Amino acid sequence: MNAATTADRIFTDWTDAHTAAWAREPLMLHHRLHRDPLFSREGLADLVSRYPREHYALVYMGAQGQSEKRFWREGDIAGLSGEKVIASIEAGRMWLNLRRVSEVDRRYREVLDQIFEEVRAHVPGYDTFSRTCGILISSPKAQVYYHSDLPGQSLWQMHGRKRVYVYPAHPPYLHPEQLEHIALNEVEVDMRYEPSFDRGAVVFDLEPGQMLHWQLNAPHRVENHDCLNVSMTTEYWTDEIRRRQMVNLANGILRARLGRSPASRATSGPAFWAKAAMQAGMRRAGLLARGRKSVRPIDFRLDPAEPGRIVDLVATA
Ligand SMILES: [Fe+2]
Repeated sequence: MNAATTADRIFTDWTDAHTAAWAREPLMLHHRLHRDPLFSREGLADLVSRYPREHYALVYMGAQGQSEKRFWREGDIAGLSGEKVIASIEAGRMWLNLRRVSEVDRRYREVLDQIFEEVRAHVPGYDTFSRTCGILISSPKAQVYYHSDLPGQSLWQMHGRKRVYVYPAHPPYLHPEQLEHIALNEVEVDMRYEPSFDRGAVVFDLEPGQMLHWQLNAPHRVENHDCLNVSMTTEYWTDEIRRRQMVNLANGILRARLGRSPASRATSGPAFWAKAAMQAGMRRAGLLARGRKSVRPIDFRLDPAEPGRIVDLVATA
C-alpha cells in the first residue's frame, strides 16, 4: 500500500497474529470509522432522517425489568428528525436497526468494500461476496440475547460502550441442529442459554474505535453499558460459508422433514454434492422459507414532545 492509502486505512493495528487468528477465534481489532463523518452523530442523524421505511426496524423493549421478547413492540419514527430519533433512543428503551445501509447509501457501500479489500490484503485468498452492513442505534442498558448467525459477521463500535460475550461454536454452546433450524426457517430462533456458558466465553468491553470478528457461527450476546450505543454489523459470505449453509439446509431437511439423523457435515465429496443438489431442488420448488418476515405489527410511534416516550397507534386493521 502507498502512503496515501496507509493514512486512509480502516484497520489501524492489524498484525501477522491477527492474520493467523482471523475467522479461527474471537478477535478484537482497532479501526478509525468512529471518527469518520459518516458515523458522527450528525452524519447518522442525516441518515436516519431519510431512511426508507421498509429497511428499518424500531423496537421498544418495555419498561426496565420487562425486557423479555414477549414485551417487545415495533414502531415508527413518525417523521421525526434523525437527531430527535437518536435523542429518543438515548432517553428510552429502544433500538433502531438500519438494515442494508450499504444498499440504501452508496457512501456506506464504499466503506464496506474498503473493509473487505483490506481483509483480503491481510488474509490472502479470503474472498468474500454478498456483503451487507447495518447500523444499530440502541438505548442505555439494551441487550441482544444469545444467538448465532449463519454468515460471517463482525461488530464495529462507533459510540458508547458495550460488553460482548463470544462463545465457542460447538456443543454445549451450539449444536448442529440449531444451525439447521436457523437455516431452514431463515429466522433467528431462541437459543438455549445457560449462565454457566459464560465461563467458556471470551468477554470484551467494546469501545469506540474497536471491532470484533469471530469464528463462523460462534454464539454471542451483548449488554450495553449505561449509555447510548451505535454499532455497525457487517455480514459476508465465502465459498466455504456458502457450502456450510447448503449442508445446514440439507441436514435440516433430512432431520426435520424426513426424520433422518444426518451423519456428515462435510463440505466436499459426493455426500456434499448430493446435499447441494437436494437443497437447490427444494429451493427451486419453493419448498424452503424465503426472506425474513416481521412478525410484529407497527403499533407505536415516537412522541415528538418527549424524547424516550412512545405513543400507541390505534389499530386500523
Ligand atoms: Fe449476531
